[in-house]
Amino acid sequence: MARIIVLGAIKGGVGKSVSTYNLAYSLKKLGKNVLVVDFDRSANITRCVVGDIKTVAVSIGDLMMNQMDEEEQPNPAECIISRNGVDFIPSSKVLSAVDTKLRLEMGAEKIWHVFWSR
Ligand SMILES: Nc1ncnc2c1ncn2[C@@H]1O[C@H](COP(=O)(O)OP(=O)(O)O)[C@@H](O)[C@H]1O
Ligand SMILES: [Mg+2]
Repeated sequence: MARIIVLGAIKGGVGKSVSTYNLAYSLKKLGKNVLVVDFDRSANITRCVVGDIKTVAVSIGDLMMNQMDEEEQPNPAECIISRNGVDFIPSSKVLSAVDTKLRLEMGAEKIWHVFWSR
């Protein structure tokens, strides 16, 4: 069964990105399949993986936007980047737009629920 581990904190510079990256590869070393989803607008993990975030084709922000607009989601192969055995869904600036849209939507908490229960 899949487990979701969230590393989050409002404060910056406390080690979220570094811990996530190290945890991902440590779990991989223990034989687990790992998917890292970068939900941080600063996209530091994404930069570690792809270099220039402008090269990201489909980010977690795009997937969330699609979900809210009830549009079809892309194939997983189009949004998952594999690096040395660990899979990543990158972040991008689109997350800022998602944030704004979520705040404006009625029943935004429902959207989160639908997104995560897929
Ligand atoms: N365990 C640690 N020991 C030493 N330095 C660390 C440790 N964890 C993080 N850092 C350093 O602290 C800084 C902030 O870490 P980062 O993971 O980017 O924080 P956040 O994602 O919470 O903003 C980075 O320069 C990182 O290399
Ligand atoms: Mg970070």
